[in-house]
Amino acid sequence: MPDISARFEGLGVGFAPYLQPPGPEIVRWTVGEPGFATPKEILDVAIGELEAGNTKYTRGAGSMELCQGVADYLSKHHEIEVSAEDVVVTPGAKQAMLYSFLITTMPGDEVILLAPSWASYEPMLEFIGAKPVHVPVRKDNFHPDLDAIREAVTDKTRMILLNSPCNPTGAVFTPDEIRGILEIAVDNDLWIVSDEIYSRMVWVDWPHVSPASLPGGMERTIVVNGWSKSWAMTGMRLGFLTGPPNAVKAAIKSQANSASHVPTFMMEAARVALSCDGSVEEFNLEYKKRREIMKNGLSELPGVRVIEPEGAFYIFADITGTGMTDTEFADGALEAGVQLIPASLITGGEGFIRVSYATNEDAIHEGLSRLRSWLL
Ligand SMILES: Cc1ncc(COP(=O)(O)O)c(C=O)c1O
Repeated sequence: MPDISARFEGLGVGFAPYLQPPGPEIVRWTVGEPGFATPKEILDVAIGELEAGNTKYTRGAGSMELCQGVADYLSKHHEIEVSAEDVVVTPGAKQAMLYSFLITTMPGDEVILLAPSWASYEPMLEFIGAKPVHVPVRKDNFHPDLDAIREAVTDKTRMILLNSPCNPTGAVFTPDEIRGILEIAVDNDLWIVSDEIYSRMVWVDWPHVSPASLPGGMERTIVVNGWSKSWAMTGMRLGFLTGPPNAVKAAIKSQANSASHVPTFMMEAARVALSCDGSVEEFNLEYKKRREIMKNGLSELPGVRVIEPEGAFYIFADITGTGMTDTEFADGALEAGVQLIPASLITGGEGFIRVSYATNEDAIHEGLSRLRSWLL
């Protein structure tokens, strides 16, 4: 058997080992996946499209109607003004991230990540030869340290990767912080790749602000977003990106040379989903309820410190007060019947655990009761 390419040597797979389903007796707090069914309205459109025979090759960036829908959505919800031609619909936000990394870096270039960051960024950057440079966020609230970001810029830096609302910390960066990061990017002529997949899940008083909506932001920001989280469509693999014309042209080439396009019969369903605000709001009410239960329950555990979860559906809790490492804590929790993520799996996560409250209320209550029996 011939050797595979060296590109895969030591390449990680994010949290994947922890995302395998354990036995049915284990409560899973690991997966960042909505516990809701995909809204029926969306499914009905997809089924209708299948029955109508919309199963053939089509426009690579997505149908014009869908791309126009995305442009309208971005204008309505996030004050991002783009045309349909500036939108590329991709197989999940993850694929859009990969295109964005290919577009903004060459092998050896540095990318500033705000640590701890989503587990997939680092291996994805390493996959294409870019170098992740981790700049720690503030430990008290997980917000960015602008001075530290500025200091981390070198002549090799090409891009700052933003993810607000954030997986894993739940932080929602303030409009001033986003402005500050854009200023650093402008001063150093850097790209920003802004992963806004949780943009509709904000539980604090300040809004989600995209750098692309700020003066001078659109020309250097690639916005990545998608349908997985707010519409409970994780398995349908639908995401999108938008950015300045040179980046969009390159994204179209990236897609033409890899995925071609997303499933044709899903395009109209994705377009319809963008106006299903009722479902998004209904899910959000549930998430807010679950967040309170999880936050209060974890806070009552001895040695566990919860930092205010501001958005997305994660809590990043400091467990150093238990005297255990995060891996020992995760192993103990699993023995007690709860699967959660020890955050030392990612740079800057030592001493923390990540839990997702996306699943369902029963799993949260049951998991908390098991942890109480273990720790109290
Ligand atoms: C921060 C972040 N970005 C992107 C994704 C991937 O989204 P998609 O399912 O659209 O590929 C996830 C999924 O967990 C995520 O947490």
